[in-house]
Amino acid sequence: MEKQTFYITTPIYYPSGNMHIGHTYTTVAADAMTRFKKLTGYDAYFLTGTDEHGQKIERKAAEKGVSPKAYVDEIVANTKELWKLMNIEYDDFIRTTDERHEKVVQKIFRQLYEQGDIYKAEYEGQYCTPCEAFWTPSQLVEKDGVKVCPDCGRPTEVVTEESYFFRMSKYQDWLIDYIQTHPDFIQPASRANEMINNFLKPGLQDLCVSRTSFSWGVPVDFDPKHVVYVWIDALSNYITALGYGTDHDELMQKYWPANVHLVGKEIVRFHTIYWPIMLHALGLPLPKQVFAHGWLLFGNDKMSKSKGNVQYAQPIVARYGCDALRYYLLREMPFGSDGNYTNEAFLTRLNADLANDLGNLVSRTVAMIEKYFGGELPAWTDAVDEALDTPLHEHCKALPGLVEAQMDKLQYSQALAEIWKVIGECNKYIDLTQPWVLGKDEARKDRLANVLLTLAECVRFVAVLIYPFMPTTPDRIFTQLGVADPSLRTWDSLARFGSLPAGTRVQKGEALFPRIDIQKELEALNPQEKKPEPKKEKKQEKKEEKPEKLPEGLISIDQFDQIQLRVARILTAEKVKGSDKLLHFSVKLTDDEPVRSVVSGIAKFYTPEEMVGKQVVLVSNLKPAKLRGIPSEGMILCASDAQDNVLRLCTVEPGMEDGAYIR
Ligand code: MSP
Repeated sequence: MEKQTFYITTPIYYPSGNMHIGHTYTTVAADAMTRFKKLTGYDAYFLTGTDEHGQKIERKAAEKGVSPKAYVDEIVANTKELWKLMNIEYDDFIRTTDERHEKVVQKIFRQLYEQGDIYKAEYEGQYCTPCEAFWTPSQLVEKDGVKVCPDCGRPTEVVTEESYFFRMSKYQDWLIDYIQTHPDFIQPASRANEMINNFLKPGLQDLCVSRTSFSWGVPVDFDPKHVVYVWIDALSNYITALGYGTDHDELMQKYWPANVHLVGKEIVRFHTIYWPIMLHALGLPLPKQVFAHGWLLFGNDKMSKSKGNVQYAQPIVARYGCDALRYYLLREMPFGSDGNYTNEAFLTRLNADLANDLGNLVSRTVAMIEKYFGGELPAWTDAVDEALDTPLHEHCKALPGLVEAQMDKLQYSQALAEIWKVIGECNKYIDLTQPWVLGKDEARKDRLANVLLTLAECVRFVAVLIYPFMPTTPDRIFTQLGVADPSLRTWDSLARFGSLPAGTRVQKGEALFPRIDIQKELEALNPQEKKPEPKKEKKQEKKEEKPEKLPEGLISIDQFDQIQLRVARILTAEKVKGSDKLLHFSVKLTDDEPVRSVVSGIAKFYTPEEMVGKQVVLVSNLKPAKLRGIPSEGMILCASDAQDNVLRLCTVEPGMEDGAYIR
């Protein structure tokens, strides 16, 4: 019988800088799903890659004095190394600079033009020459009574340019209907409502799909002074990689439509509006699902103090191995929600879930088989204790189904939680059955045999099931359990409880995940995290020693220095459910820093739509808090009147880069 196919993709990453733990998160999720599908009998195909065109890359390369291609080549090489380190087994890695991709993008653009979905028109806009950017009148900001560029603060001029436009408006009603009749298409479902209410119902504008202001892109082949808009270029990767539009489109025939595109929540719009319309216009079926996952946030103020202080995977993997990090990423937060990354939370889980729960179960099981049966698995006996054995056997037998049900919903964290429930139950089973007491009594050896066999078999189930999440740990467990037969490591082998043959020789090995001293590790991972900078300490001491020197109501310059104020750009904004006061923002500081989640009580004064794109002043080293369960990593400053009837945002004059410090 032919295997059912399963095609999964990650977004293709911008190689403007090296990939951090946030990018790693998406890629690990895709890899775990691919491995799970392969384990459960699917013919799974996993695509990832890099999105290499655009003005930003062009500028970064120019700053470095290298060609854009040389610039991205280096980062792509690092990215591939990182994926190797994380044990990512992709089937294909597509680069938008690949000839196979560029050619087909040109073909797609031409086809859409020839069939009238793309048209050429004069575009009149406010143009900022130094920034090479067009702005709509509402994006301009006022300076001394003159409307100026929001980026550099210089005057703009009205420029008319020829551009190509995609008739998005034509497909608006079709898309609303499609989303409403395909509830699985956009997940989580709240994102579908967001798309319909915020973008589709207000009306789709035709989209400008070519640029002449820079050249690092795919040229429109019939009008080469234009390059194809990066999102048209980028989204096409999901089909160009399969050979769409070429004579070798076997993969396209086999795997399209994709089962799931994994995307971060800030790029849902591109994947659920532009991409479906493009595909529909090309006469292609739509992906079955676009799943928007949340962000890994960096709530710890110490980590984001200096520019570029982002968490990368490499130092963590070097100390604790890739499986520990993979486990943490997939376990810590529900897929779809935001969550914080902190070294402390990671290390705590490492000790609790991996060293204690899993590691101890394996080592105790193996050690007891060695001690009481000379390292050889005995045969099952009829010394069964129904009350203790049956629930655990039944739970273990049900486990594959429980895990699969969660994985079908992309709930990695819940799938792992199911496995850990069985691990917990096993550890409890040891306490209840007390094998060390049974071992003292030769007459109860039969009972002891069943107890240890139960544990060994549960460990086998666990080892098979954790493989997609932690691909190197099962081998280490199987070596200790003495399971050499590959047929005992398969999904099908879990159809039966009690398959480990008598006589199997176990062998105690190193601890799977040695227990660590969290304080010491914290210092090793991030020396500043545990020890406040000596200079600051002194300042504080000074302050404490001589508080009387400050006239009442005044603060010292040192105290003021402790407050970090920075320029932040609002990327996304949404109302907080159930609150008429709160808005939830994602805000950007520098390009190198992770995007932050900030909740602010300004919903009565500003709508989400008018906030997007604004620069605000952020208290960026405020201790993170949770408001209505949403992490808030900073405070947006506003002025308000005494009665709080009027509230206005604080901002900076135009021309300041995002992330700048306010002193
Ligand atoms: N190039 C586009 C995608 C084009 S797909 C046709 C892009 N690239 S990106 O490099 O900026 O982001 C790629 C993915 O990484 C996004 O899904 C984004 O959400 C994800 N992440 C980047 N930082 C992240 C976190 N801190 N946490 C979780 N995911 C993060 O957008």
